[in-house]
Amino acid sequence: MDKKRVAIIGVTGSVGQEFVQSLHNHPWFEVTQIAASERSAGKKYVDAIREPSGIVAWDVGGEIPEYIKDMTVKRIDELDVSQLDLVFSAVESEAARAIETKMAADVPVISTSSAYRYEEDVPILIPGVNDDQAELLETQKKNRNWKGWVAPLPNCTTTGLAITLKPLFEKYGAKKVMMTSMQAISGGGKSGVTAMGITDNILPYIPKEEGKVRIETRKILGKLKDGKIEDADIKVSCTCTRVPVIDGHTESVFVETEKEIDPSTAKDTYNEYNHSISVAGLPSAPKDYYAFHEDPTRPQPRMERDVGGGMTTTIGRVEKEELFDKGLKYMLFSHNKKMGSAKGAVLLAEMLYKKAKI
Ligand SMILES: NC(=O)c1ccc[n+]([C@@H]2O[C@H](COP(=O)([O-])OP(=O)(O)OC[C@H]3O[C@@H](n4cnc5c(N)ncnc54)[C@H](OP(=O)(O)O)[C@@H]3O)[C@@H](O)[C@H]2O)c1
Repeated sequence: MDKKRVAIIGVTGSVGQEFVQSLHNHPWFEVTQIAASERSAGKKYVDAIREPSGIVAWDVGGEIPEYIKDMTVKRIDELDVSQLDLVFSAVESEAARAIETKMAADVPVISTSSAYRYEEDVPILIPGVNDDQAELLETQKKNRNWKGWVAPLPNCTTTGLAITLKPLFEKYGAKKVMMTSMQAISGGGKSGVTAMGITDNILPYIPKEEGKVRIETRKILGKLKDGKIEDADIKVSCTCTRVPVIDGHTESVFVETEKEIDPSTAKDTYNEYNHSISVAGLPSAPKDYYAFHEDPTRPQPRMERDVGGGMTTTIGRVEKEELFDKGLKYMLFSHNKKMGSAKGAVLLAEMLYKKAKI
């Protein structure tokens, strides 16, 4: 089988590096071009990620895959889109809008940035959660007279919340959700937070994050109807904080449901969903989409972040919530750079490839 030719743009950043790893030896996709900003353009990949001190800032762990080391990083306008089947965009959000617009005119774009998430003809896709909304990509293509489309993933904090809410919402209905996040340092990108700022500290505010979680959760759990997404009728309130954890977001969630629910039925619901998940068997899908713990000391970032290669969402501390007539509280863990961005984007590409959209 001929592999699809893909480019990674923003390849030098935190998420870009994860893309490099997630696409290493991929059975369907081959990285043929890479790009980043002017700062990196013209350099070999290893030199582009080298800090002024000489240290190679490879943040993924393990070795840098051989295939990428000597590949030259291009400027965006040097990319030959006629030789591409797909672009993975991990570009810093401000620059992403213009870049993704230019790319999508010719080729499909899967993005981790927020640039296009809030447009009416753009679904925010989580593979395994709202695959049916992928049909909106056809409308988008037509509306904009593009050869490609833009398919953004949600913000990495929304990902875990939407994944864990989906089975509850479908089976028990959800009316109100209240969430407090404890987000990892790597979620802010390579220059997001300083060591002095986060060590021995908790940052109680992450700009724009809470609004993103509110809007995106309602859209993801919404329904595609007459070429538009009707948002789910859920009130979402959240507080997003940054904590001294390197990778993986933990969230404390309170949810009010329409129907009666107790912790044991929640466990059965996640188990049923595990067995029927649409993306099962795809190359980047984990064996278990959900891990459910009854041990009250879980989830913990250090214990959960490698489960399912960072693609499993962990749920624990599930208890009846006294504040509501019907409802639960629980904690979740979701890996921001795996399921929450690069590897989740590769899983999305696999799902869209199976649906013949790529
Ligand atoms: N970090 C996470 O966990 C996470 C999770 C979900 C979504 N996201 C989103 O994913 C995107 C990337 O995040 P990140 O954390 O990887 O950020 P990052 O570490 O700051 O990396 C940003 C990347 O964008 C490139 N870039 C910046 N300006 C550019 C321009 N004008 N043209 C081309 N490339 C440009 C940078 O290239 P240079 O190295 O050459 O400057 C770098 O490769 C952001 O939109 C972010 O919101 C991040």
